Amino acid sequence: MPAKDVVTPFVADAVPSILQRLRSETRDAHSAIEKTLALTDKTLTPGAYRQVLESFYGFYKPVEDVIGAAADTMPVWLDVAARRKTFLLEVDLQRLCPQGGHALPLCKALPPLRNVAQRLGCLYVLEGATLGGVLISRHIRENLGVFPETGGSFFHGYGPSTGAMWNDFRAGLLSFASVAPHEEALVIETARATFETLRHWCERGKDR
Ligand code: HEM
Repeated sequence: MPAKDVVTPFVADAVPSILQRLRSETRDAHSAIEKTLALTDKTLTPGAYRQVLESFYGFYKPVEDVIGAAADTMPVWLDVAARRKTFLLEVDLQRLCPQGGHALPLCKALPPLRNVAQRLGCLYVLEGATLGGVLISRHIRENLGVFPETGGSFFHGYGPSTGAMWNDFRAGLLSFASVAPHEEALVIETARATFETLRHWCERGKDR
């Protein structure tokens, strides 16, 4: 008897969204920077915490300057000015080290930020850092006695608005990917490059 035709229902593989891809394709880079910074270790010292702030300042400042200068090229849903965080690093460093004032080194080997896709990939990393910031903020409060008002404003970030700011950013990324699907790979590539360049910069900072 001839075998019966088996009609296998066609199930399309679910295509991962840009958000799922960003998370999964940068997971290793996220773990690596988390390990380098060691900000939630029990052994975190005030000096090591300040060193991270100094390194972050040297990275965020030039990156935010480049993105800020290109703000009018960015999608309308993204309020570049409202997402700037360099000033929080300045405030924290001033509070922790009022006698400081010396010019901190600025990173020159930035991730590529030539176009909107690259700038969004980079911002994905800087915005996502506010999520870890919630845990870091609690850790430095409990272990170093540093509060948002006493040197912990950067990791306090958007405070109670952190979830909403993140969700708005994610919704914007989805809309960008829907109108420019060919740019998705570039966003992800730049997110990876951002994690890596920041991690290298912070590693060098430990030797300064
Ligand atoms: C050093 C300690 C860090 C810890 C403990 C930490 C922890 C976390 C946690 C718990 C989340 C998930 C939050 C959620 O899904 O609600 C998260 C997400 C994220 N973090 Fe971190 N983080 C750290 C550092 C960083 C840094 C330095 C960056 C970037 C500069 C970063 C970038 C991101 C990004 C982009 C996401 C979003 C992942 C996604 O697409 O869902 N994190 N982090």
